[in-house]
Amino acid sequence: MTTSNKRPVRSYILRQGRLTKHQERGIKNFSSKYAIPFQKSFLNFDQVFPKRNKVILEIGFGMGDSTFEIAQVMNDFNFLAVEVHSPGVGSLLNKINLSQIENLKIIQHDGIEVLNEMIPRRSLDGVHIFFPDPWPKKKHHKRRLLKKSFLELIEPKLTLSGYIHIATDWEPYAIEIIDLVKQSQFYKMSNRNFNKKPQARPFTKYEKRGLRLGHQVWDMIITLS
Ligand SMILES: C[S@@+](CC[C@H](N)C(=O)[O-])C[C@H]1O[C@@H](n2cnc3c(N)ncnc32)[C@H](O)[C@@H]1O
Repeated sequence: MTTSNKRPVRSYILRQGRLTKHQERGIKNFSSKYAIPFQKSFLNFDQVFPKRNKVILEIGFGMGDSTFEIAQVMNDFNFLAVEVHSPGVGSLLNKINLSQIENLKIIQHDGIEVLNEMIPRRSLDGVHIFFPDPWPKKKHHKRRLLKKSFLELIEPKLTLSGYIHIATDWEPYAIEIIDLVKQSQFYKMSNRNFNKKPQARPFTKYEKRGLRLGHQVWDMIITLS
């Protein structure tokens, strides 16, 4: 029998980013309360969140400012927010603790593995992916999060009325995503005007950078076909 020793291509590169003292304290003091360790068994959302509500998974929340904002605005949803980098995790943990909101929990891990191992079938009402790393160089395209296999991984995790909301300021990536959806047997695009920001989505940190550079922003809402 042959086994492959090939390392998976990740959609991120783990940097040993410096943590501020405040972020460090956030991780040390509040992880046990508001973060869920990665595990190889499905979550029971009734145990994760105090209120039973629809669940939205966000992958790649960065510093988490917009995640915190949207969780407050859409407070009749529960948010499970996933990020690999510690500064954003520490920062968001501090925010959750200060505000004591109960509908936002964090997992610090690769979102693909979280989807695979922790998310039960037909349990997500939404998946938010705001400004995924565009990996603009051709040799890095293989690192892009949005690809056929990733969309296929999400499909059985969505409820039948669930959606995926993707925003990007990288036009070639947006076009690639729209093509992936068109070719998919599982999905359809549910918005038409891709350059109109849905009201519920706050401006994100990364988006503001894109806008400063003069980039146009694309929002794509994808539902099951
Ligand atoms: C360009 S940033 C955008 C952050 C934030 N959404 C915003 O708009 O400001 C993309 C983020 O996705 C995270 N990321 C990339 N791949 C990921 C994965 N597989 N699982 C979890 N986070 C991931 C990166 O660490 C990074 O923080």
